[in-house]
Amino acid sequence: LVASLPRREQSILELRLYQGFWLPEHWVPGTIVFQRRFAPRPDDVILASYPKCGTTWLKALAFATAARTAYPPASAGHPLRRLNPHDCVPFIDDIFATGEDAKLDALPSPRLMNTHLPYALLPAPVVTGCRVAYVCRDPKDMVVSLWHFLRRAKPDLSFADTFESVCDGTVAAGPVWDHVLSYWRASVACPDRALFLWYEDLLHDPAGNVRRLAEFMGCPFSAAEDVAAVVDLCSFDEMKALEVNRPGSGTAGRYRVMPRDAFFRKGVAGDWANHMTPEMAARLDEIFREKIRGTGLAFP
Ligand code: A3P
Repeated sequence: LVASLPRREQSILELRLYQGFWLPEHWVPGTIVFQRRFAPRPDDVILASYPKCGTTWLKALAFATAARTAYPPASAGHPLRRLNPHDCVPFIDDIFATGEDAKLDALPSPRLMNTHLPYALLPAPVVTGCRVAYVCRDPKDMVVSLWHFLRRAKPDLSFADTFESVCDGTVAAGPVWDHVLSYWRASVACPDRALFLWYEDLLHDPAGNVRRLAEFMGCPFSAAEDVAAVVDLCSFDEMKALEVNRPGSGTAGRYRVMPRDAFFRKGVAGDWANHMTPEMAARLDEIFREKIRGTGLAFP
């Protein structure tokens, strides 16, 4: 089946067009197995994102929130103080790609897992039976973050090539606008099952957005509870400074070959201005404006 799918080779990755999205060739078999075999539980929470839009942060926040009784966020022995968030919340896509689905079966409920697949490619029982929290980000900052990330593995990758791939949709799990819109539409149609968060909103009001996330996950904070402790534990500066996330600390998560420190670069909004010409920024903005027109979605 994989060999029969339309193929696109470019400087970033070898891609196959699968059910309307460009997937890296090595994602396709695992995606098919996930679609066919995943056995959801009603209390599963799936964390979803386009790469480089805040996955690591969302994983940390959701894990710290869900586990706050067993692991008080201020405690010195909290798992997030010794493990990278990708080692606390498994990548479903990765697990199916490596045929290790038994690992998911072994997780205690309620399970927290994540995926980079678009909503349209999630198995039907996930869509009808689980909760899915999505984090989105200004695509201009996503492109910059993606380029820096990919360069860790491909030092000669140019920013221009990365930018063009995003603009023409041929990027992993792209087109990005269709990825974003798939979750946006789900969150509008079924707000109890799909939550849509912005990276920029998390930066602006972390406590308010963690409260939303907790409520959505079915473990709301009481008025007396300390949301700030979760926010502080998961803050960029705290996480980046941890021994486990420092350069040389090994690899994590889906990108097994990627060092853990690669998931913590700047952690700000607006870094695109240091990488793009005003013309490039305007072009990307215009592409997204056109694609999301009439959907009710508005980028910050
Ligand atoms: P930058 O490259 O712009 O710094 P992902 O987790 O989806 O791979 O996204 C990575 C982006 O999120 C990187 O953005 C990274 O620095 C940022 N990030 C990681 N942890 C964060 C945190 N705790 N708070 C804010 N941003 C974070």
